[in-house]
Amino acid sequence: MKRVPTGVPGLDELIEGGFPESSSILLSGGAGCGKSIFCLEYLYNGAREHDETGVYITLEEGPHNLWWNMQRFKWDLLPLEKNNKLKIYKFEPSLDFKENTNDQIQRIIDKAKQLSAKRMVIDSITAFSFWMDDVGKIRYAIYALIEALRKLDCTTILTCETTGGKNSISRFGVEEFLTDGVIQLLYTPPHRSMFVRKMRGTNHDKRVHPVEISDAGFQINSKEEILWEALRD
Ligand SMILES: Nc1ncnc2c1ncn2[C@@H]1O[C@H](COP(=O)(O)OP(=O)(O)OP(=O)(O)O)[C@@H](O)[C@H]1O
Ligand SMILES: [Mg+2]
Repeated sequence: MKRVPTGVPGLDELIEGGFPESSSILLSGGAGCGKSIFCLEYLYNGAREHDETGVYITLEEGPHNLWWNMQRFKWDLLPLEKNNKLKIYKFEPSLDFKENTNDQIQRIIDKAKQLSAKRMVIDSITAFSFWMDDVGKIRYAIYALIEALRKLDCTTILTCETTGGKNSISRFGVEEFLTDGVIQLLYTPPHRSMFVRKMRGTNHDKRVHPVEISDAGFQINSKEEILWEALRD
């Protein structure tokens, strides 16, 4: 199986070298646990080190804010932007309330196709699904989106907003069964941590590891372990 190096320091060694190519990964966690920074790092390093085009679909946080975040990390983005290697698009879920699900999915797929993206981020899948009035529709929409991106050979991270506890995997209780992988981010101030909950086709690491966010970005300490009992429910 071909692997996609994640570009997140400390992560590849936990998952046999990277995400399975064309897979979908749920990145779940509470507010401020580092989901968006993790995703930006995935796209930035993918473009810079592997020459892979990345598309970031943001549903709520404005693109300016995300660019500003990346300046803080002293990442050299402008050349990547100019060469269409890293693109950020805002997608307005509220304005699209009446648009049917297939059209919404198609708009995302069109962006990926136009740019021949190899890496994709949907931030967040919670905001994408939130207006749908039943969990059956949510399940269908996420499934259809994931499968369409898989056909394009895009390796996709979908962020998921949870209450932040260690057993809180998703918002609607279905997302984690649809994706090929689940990574949980945890934040119990002042300690940040993460673990790989699932990664299909991968003998992944089972431990919880400390995380640091700094001007260098999002980093995982794959050598150190945090005990499950020390994490909040
Ligand atoms: N340069 C930095 N140095 C240290 N910590 C930082 C830095 N920039 C951001 N952070 C931390 O990262 C947090 C934001 O991370 P991020 O936006 O990725 O979280 P998120 O999980 O996407 O949040 P949300 O659920 O609100 O979308 C900040 O609240 C702050 O604690
Ligand atoms: Mg975010």
